[in-house]
Amino acid sequence: MESYLIKNIKIDSFFTKPVFLDDRFVLLSPEMQMDLKTIQALNEWGFHSVLSEGTPSDAYFSGGATESDSSSETVVDREHIEQAEQFYKTLYKYTRRILFNATGSEFNFAKLAQWIQEPINVIRNNKRYILRIITAPRDEEDPATRHTVQTTILTVIIGLYIKLPNHKLIELAICALLHEIGMLKLSPQHYICMRQDTPPSDQRILVAHPIMGYSILLKAGFPVNICMGVLEHHERENGSGYPKRLVGDAICQYAKIISLACHYVSTAVEQPDVLNSHEVIVDILKNKENLFDISIVRALVSSLSLYPIGSYVLLSSGRKAQVINSYRDNLGAPVVQIFGERSADGRNKIINTASSEISIARPLTQDEISQLPQLTRDVDFV
Ligand SMILES: [Fe+2]
Repeated sequence: MESYLIKNIKIDSFFTKPVFLDDRFVLLSPEMQMDLKTIQALNEWGFHSVLSEGTPSDAYFSGGATESDSSSETVVDREHIEQAEQFYKTLYKYTRRILFNATGSEFNFAKLAQWIQEPINVIRNNKRYILRIITAPRDEEDPATRHTVQTTILTVIIGLYIKLPNHKLIELAICALLHEIGMLKLSPQHYICMRQDTPPSDQRILVAHPIMGYSILLKAGFPVNICMGVLEHHERENGSGYPKRLVGDAICQYAKIISLACHYVSTAVEQPDVLNSHEVIVDILKNKENLFDISIVRALVSSLSLYPIGSYVLLSSGRKAQVINSYRDNLGAPVVQIFGERSADGRNKIINTASSEISIARPLTQDEISQLPQLTRDVDFV
């Protein structure tokens, strides 16, 4: 592996193969730019060089990377996807036990805080791979647990984006993990966020569930910050939420983050036939009724992009593709992996639509998605 001095690496260049900080930690994969922020962060952390088997290049895929370079990147990608899948399954299993079968000794802050640190680290280092797999159809799973896992992952991603300190990230993640605990105790069949068409009798149960969750956690000795996050996770910025109709800054930060993550999962993931994930993101961004804190909205949109990572799109070339990465400075032009278009080595082609003539035409409809073969895991890496 060659060592490259950071001061000699051109800003916004790509490496033709993964870039490592040391013999274990992958810093960048080939479609990620060595941007100014990364270089500044490396300098702040005291790193003066990075390692790579590739070479720096001005462009990714269209001129810079060779076919063999792209295939080696795909192998790294596949390993990350498999790890993300394994991570999801472990988180799902643990969450299910905590929500439904936790005994007194397991159901306490110290135990959960110790356990949740590792998932936070995994999400921090593998965000774009985890985002690609969390929205995949998972009909065999228990809906309450699936909702909780997806909301928790998104919550942590937002917490990371706004740079919460680690002790707050731990509290926030536990808060997300337990945000529907009151619903599961009151009425397990009504686990998800309140819906417009819910009958009045059930609405009373729904309105009570944050209070129930708060009481359960307070009694179990959880920190007040976590209890309050659970109590307020259905409050809305404009005062239209429940149970206390709080407005703006009266709502705690954990609740603001969880309410947006919960809303995204309840709409984009759980009801894709109503609005696709792109439409949900646009809707959230408009924030017409001032439902969500604008700083949290920005954090979510910047983390997912306008065409959320993991979603499926039609390209201007007529090909279908999956969004696999995005850059904060160009949220409307993410990196995509194209179905049915292969490089010379037979692997699926990846392009950065920000630096390509090909652009995104529109998101795929649910019908079009259902006609795709078994998605991501099988198709991408033939
Ligand atoms: Fe809820």
